This record gives sequence, structure tokens and C-alpha cells, in this order.
Amino acid sequence: ASTGPVLGVETSCDETGVAIFDPARGDAAGGLLAHTLYSQIRMHADYGGVVPELASRDHVRKLLPLVRETLAQAGLRVADLGGVAYTAGPGLVGALLVGATAVRSLAWALELPAIGVHHMEGHLLAPLLEPDPPEPPFVALLVSGGHSMLIEVAAIGRYTLLGDTLDDAAGEAFDKTAKLMDLPYPGGPALAKLAEQGRPGTFRFARPMTDRPGLDFSFSGLKTQVLLAWQASDRSNQTKADIARAFEEAIVDTLTIKCRRALAATGARTLVVAGGVGANRRLRAQLAEAGAREGFRAHFPRLEFCTDNGAMIALAGALRLQAGEHETPAILVRPRWDL
Ligand code: KG4
Ligand code: ZN
Repeated sequence: ASTGPVLGVETSCDETGVAIFDPARGDAAGGLLAHTLYSQIRMHADYGGVVPELASRDHVRKLLPLVRETLAQAGLRVADLGGVAYTAGPGLVGALLVGATAVRSLAWALELPAIGVHHMEGHLLAPLLEPDPPEPPFVALLVSGGHSMLIEVAAIGRYTLLGDTLDDAAGEAFDKTAKLMDLPYPGGPALAKLAEQGRPGTFRFARPMTDRPGLDFSFSGLKTQVLLAWQASDRSNQTKADIARAFEEAIVDTLTIKCRRALAATGARTLVVAGGVGANRRLRAQLAEAGAREGFRAHFPRLEFCTDNGAMIALAGALRLQAGEHETPAILVRPRWDL
């Protein structure tokens, strides 16, 4: 088992995230000593999406300065670290290799235990960084740009997949729908912002796959419904906002219905929501409301830890190192990796 603070590095996509988590400092909320983040979003915006090669190159530029800055914020030197962790997948292979190589080299030079963390386990554990953290068993809704999953968490590290998307992920549906209405990249937050000006009840889209049993999702059909509604409309700004609102309601309702189903199926009373779409205000409000009404509690990460960050990787890595896990000195990434 490791002793001492753990450095965590996230480079799976378009955010360079670095954090230091000390498992010795009481609860998870108190253990986060420092975190820094550099987002490449502005660079990729010109291309309407993430360009993998540019992402890798920017991680190369930003990672070591961020590591230095994070150590300084925590008032630590590399020699004070007790372990290192990095996102080993899933993600863009070039981007993953930047973080993996830097962190494994540090581990080699400093003779520290190292661990490669599953990006989605990082997301899943992010709510543990908040005060009054959730305790297993719980159900986790993981909704990001690449995943929409319902997971039963029997204990930290013991995960059972309850439901998955058959096509687009929830965040992907937000991004693609935003794109077809000419909203700027990244589409999810832009569409959610526009939806605030939308009037209720002017459009209505389906709640896909809620009329039959099961916990899987399918969001690609919604995009088509939005496209048809948008093409047939007057294309005014108000109509755009109205459609955005109806789209957001359809996704949020669908996610809420499936979460309630998963809680009923497992008997859990605690729900954890994480991943980029977990930052969506309507989703947070609706799940909190449903919980108050039906007797479950919904936990969310703070907004900045819904999207990709180093803190969740430092935490997940620290918990695994503490449990006695670590890797042999080979550099390994998994662009595709089941949880
Ligand atoms: O977890 P994340 O940062 O990266 C992945 O691992 O995919 O999630 C990014 C996704 C994007 O699809 C983005 O559009 C979506 O999360 N997202 C949102 C919001 N903020 C981010 N979707 C809806 N409402 C938001 N407020
Ligand atoms: Zn992510």
C-alpha cells in the first residue's frame, strides 16, 4: 500500500488535468491538496471537434508545467509523493500516451508505485470528492461525450453494468444536435444555455426506449426528430431556443426514468451522477426533486469535476494504490476498455 500523496494525471481527450490527493487526510473531500486544469476547447473549436494529433501535442506542451504548478500549489516536492496515477483509457491513444509516458517515467525515476486508472472509474468516483460523500452500494449514472451507462456499484472497484447506450452517448447527442442547429462547439453546454430561453410545451420529442422494460439507452433518433422539426420551423432564435428546451427535456426525462428504474431494480437508495452531462442543471434539479419525492439521494460532483479533470484520477488512483494495487513497469494504454 502506498503512503503519501498521490499525483493524478488526466490526458485522455482535450483537457490536461493534474491533481494531488492524499488518502491520509481523513475523508475524500479533505484529501484533495491541489488541482489544475488546462482546457484545449478553444483550440479545437476552430475545427468543430477534437483533432487528436493537436490534442496530443498540446498535452505535451502543458503537462509538465501543470505538474510543477500543482506541486507548488500543494506546497510539495516530487520527493514527497507516495504514488502516481494516470488515465490509461479509454480515450485517444496519442493523448493517453502523453500522460502515461510522463507519469510512468516519474514513477521509474522516483521509484514510486504507479497505477493506470479507467477514465470512467474516475468519473464515477468524482462525487466522493464532495462533503458528505455517497457510500456503496449505489447506482451510478455515467453520462459523458463517449458514454451513457448505468452501473451498480457494490463496493469501490466492484462494478456491474446495468444499462448502456445502443448508439450515441448522451453528451454526443447534445453535441450533434447543437451542431445541426449551428450552435458553437462544444455543443452540449451551448445547447443547455439556449434551452433556458426556450418556452415549455412548444415542441415535444420522444423519450426513447422508456415505453418498454430495460435500462439501455438510444439517443440517435432524437437527433433526427430535432433535425426535422428545425428544418420545418421558421428558424427564428426563439424557435431555436424552444427546440433546445424540448430536446433537453427529452434527454433529462429519459435519464431520470432509467435512473428510477435502476434504483428500483437494485433496491439502492443512493444515486451518483457523473460525467460531462452531469453538469446539466435541468438534470441535476430533476434528479434531486425525484429523490426528495421518492426517497433516494442524488449525489453530483461540483460542476468543474463533472467534465474531465485530474482530481478524479488522483482519487481513483489513490484508492487503488491504497488497496495494494500497482503496475509492473511497462507503459500500457487502452484506447478501448470495458469497465
Ligand atoms: O466527461 P466529459 O468532459 O468528457 C468525456 O469523457 O466525454 O464530457 C463531455 C460531454 C460533452 O459531450 C459535452 O457536450 C457534455 O459533456 N456537457 C454537457 C454539459 N456540459 C458538458 N451536456 C449537457 N449540458 C451541460 N451543461
Ligand atoms: Zn470524461
